[in-house]
Amino acid sequence: MARQRAGKPLFNCKACGGSFPKWSGQCPDCGGWNSLEEGVVAEGTTKNPRFAGYAGDASQNRVQLLTDVKPKSEGRFSTGIAELDRVLGGGLVAGSVVLIGGDPGIGKSTLLIQTLAQLSDRLSTLYVSGEESPEQISLRAHRLGLPCENLQLLPETCVERILPLAQKHHPDVMVVDSVQTLYTELLQSAPGAVAQVREATAQLVRFAKQSGTAIFLVGHVTKDGSLAGPRVLEHMVDAVLYFEGEAGSQFRLIRTIKNRFGAVNELGVFAMTDRGLKEVSNPSAIFLSRHQTQVSGSIVMVTREGSRPLLVEVQALVDESHLGNPRRVTLGLEQNRLSMLLAVLHRHGGIAMFDQDVYVNIVGGVRITETAADLAVLLAVLSSLRDRTLAQDLVAFGEVGLAGEIRPVPNGQDRLREAAKHGFRCAIAPKANVPKKAIPGLEVIAVERLSDALDAVL
Ligand code: TYD
Ligand code: MG
Repeated sequence: MARQRAGKPLFNCKACGGSFPKWSGQCPDCGGWNSLEEGVVAEGTTKNPRFAGYAGDASQNRVQLLTDVKPKSEGRFSTGIAELDRVLGGGLVAGSVVLIGGDPGIGKSTLLIQTLAQLSDRLSTLYVSGEESPEQISLRAHRLGLPCENLQLLPETCVERILPLAQKHHPDVMVVDSVQTLYTELLQSAPGAVAQVREATAQLVRFAKQSGTAIFLVGHVTKDGSLAGPRVLEHMVDAVLYFEGEAGSQFRLIRTIKNRFGAVNELGVFAMTDRGLKEVSNPSAIFLSRHQTQVSGSIVMVTREGSRPLLVEVQALVDESHLGNPRRVTLGLEQNRLSMLLAVLHRHGGIAMFDQDVYVNIVGGVRITETAADLAVLLAVLSSLRDRTLAQDLVAFGEVGLAGEIRPVPNGQDRLREAAKHGFRCAIAPKANVPKKAIPGLEVIAVERLSDALDAVL
């Protein structure tokens, strides 16, 4: 990091947070283009110790053996919203800082005001808003019918004024909406600038660790979907949650991207209603669109997002291509993975797609990041190509290897049990995933090679 005298301009990278005395088109640190923007070093900031984590009281720090350190049980408490507890790893930890990101209008403020109102009858809460006026917040809370007699509100964007008030009222849970509207008097750049966001967050993190107040920070996302501001923001906080799902759809998914107190990739499912966000307790049921008649190109798979299995429908459309390069379009799935799977299908299944456009969609706006979708994708593609419907009570999952083998996926039994629970009678699964003890009501077709799976459905 460049050392600069106060008052001189300093250029900060929007992507990595690096700072340099001179502007350049490419960030020397992260290589990003056009990401440097001007800020000013104010009096006193160069002497300020940069604080990006928690080191405790510096005067008492000493070298010690790990075995001598007694593990402090983290004070976890329920937020009153089970799906939110799930993505937080089983509840909110006192003194933790949770960053919640998502597109505008997806429901970040709604979720947090609901959470705070739920908590306000047993804990002290504070909602710091830099985006909406107190009247707007009150209107929303009334419309949602929230119990907010004890909910404290603070319309403020200056960190130096927020922190003394927070210290005085000492809330157990505090929401800051949003981090991009905050500014610190230490720096002269505009609110939302990288340096401001970073410095303001650092001060809030320090406050959370010292006071034991759990803080929810709302973060904006940029056009390409990542959190605005430097990546360093994600390193500073304890947990990062992301709102996913299409704005048009009723369902909202929250995914854990980072969690110092629990597992990542955990998925919470909500529905946006006219009374705010409602938890969806049986998410498998909502992602299955119920066709009246069987259609080709559709199959149900069991994915496992975080700690629970989830049934989702995979749809494929294969259409004759008039392009030199046939199209490979995916929604909710990685595109390169589809190209790879089609190559495996050609080499090991003898089915060519070079003259076909292939579209694959995961229904309901779910994004699947695991390889267990491979087999279901290929079966859906094949079903569409041949215009042959697959049985409606059939599920499939399994990873497809480049050698045409079907590889096992984690937690096969859980997935099969979830399928049986929802009334599916037949499952195509990797051989190594088949349980020794049969699952009542479910016939499992064990497959080792891609050709076995193709034989089973055609
Ligand atoms: P909001 O929480 O303000 O979004 P964010 O803070 O992420 O920008 O959500 C606003 C959207 O949610 C808005 O488009 C309307 C919708 N909404 C409902 O459908 N029902 C409701 O009860 C509420 C409060 C909002
Ligand atoms: Mg908002």
